[in-house]
Amino acid sequence: MTTPSEIFDGPAITALGLAVSRSVESNRPDRLIDDPLARAFVTAAHINLPMRLDWPQRDEAVTATERLHLHGSRYIGLRTRFYDDLLISAAGTGIRQSVLIGAGLDTRAVRLALPATFHLLELDQSRLLAWKQEVLDAQLAIPRCRRSWIGTDLREDWPSELMRRGFDPGQPAAFIAEGLLPYLSPRERFRLVSQIDALAAPGSVLALDRIVGDPHAHGRVSRLSRDSGLDMTTLMASGENDDTAARMQADGWKIRETAVAHVAASYGRDLGDPFHVSRNASEPEPPWLETRFLQATR
Ligand SMILES: C[S@@+](CC[C@H](N)C(=O)[O-])C[C@H]1O[C@@H](n2cnc3c(N)ncnc32)[C@H](O)[C@@H]1O
Repeated sequence: MTTPSEIFDGPAITALGLAVSRSVESNRPDRLIDDPLARAFVTAAHINLPMRLDWPQRDEAVTATERLHLHGSRYIGLRTRFYDDLLISAAGTGIRQSVLIGAGLDTRAVRLALPATFHLLELDQSRLLAWKQEVLDAQLAIPRCRRSWIGTDLREDWPSELMRRGFDPGQPAAFIAEGLLPYLSPRERFRLVSQIDALAAPGSVLALDRIVGDPHAHGRVSRLSRDSGLDMTTLMASGENDDTAARMQADGWKIRETAVAHVAASYGRDLGDPFHVSRNASEPEPPWLETRFLQATR
């Protein structure tokens, strides 16, 4: 049997880090999401992470690394809510299937009020999704919609398996690639978008986030790795600019892109560093890279 330390020794550690952030967000009074299973995943993994699962009490001692993650959890809470709302809105327009590409430890099938006939298909590494199912079973977590998971390498032929598992390319779908693109090389991103393009019937939507033209990205990723205790330099694909939006436009998708600051403003979320006390010093750089949220329709 694969142990959690083997499962989380690689890209899956990012999924666990996001579960930590969702646990923190879920416990704040101004939370944008409520994801109790996030804590259950982190507890079940028994991995020693330099992160807290709750927002600290006033005057409680917090290390610099923990502060960095707590700050980042404000952004992850926002991002999760953005995709939650997109999925609910897609269901509202009559879409009845969705593919979470690189689903990680996402719990939308359990958390969101999706129609019982809605088919949510999760794609990620086999051993991560098999372990996730064990935790969901132990927590007696019941999906509100029809949930399927497909263990796969996203660099390979996952569309065939998707269709074998009930995805209907003749019907519109919501495709969500949340926090995924930075971990794929330009060639892998290109292939992924082409695969989605081939599966997307008219009326489909695709949502993703992509890192944009940050000339300091390489240095920032190194600093983030050092400060966060998670080695993003080896996990993230190296620096070339993400041209996914331009490519999709060329393929006939209608694109709308929004900067993080705009999304934050629309939810009333202050993304400033909550631990920044000195009024004289400028705000430290945030623990995420310059990102845009892309929504595309067919
Ligand atoms: C940053 S996490 C995002 C997870 C999830 N979307 C979320 O927001 O919580 C990236 C996910 O992509 C998955 N992933 C990265 N490369 C992959 C690949 N080649 N094949 C399958 N899954 C992959 C990782 O296992 C991880 O769960």
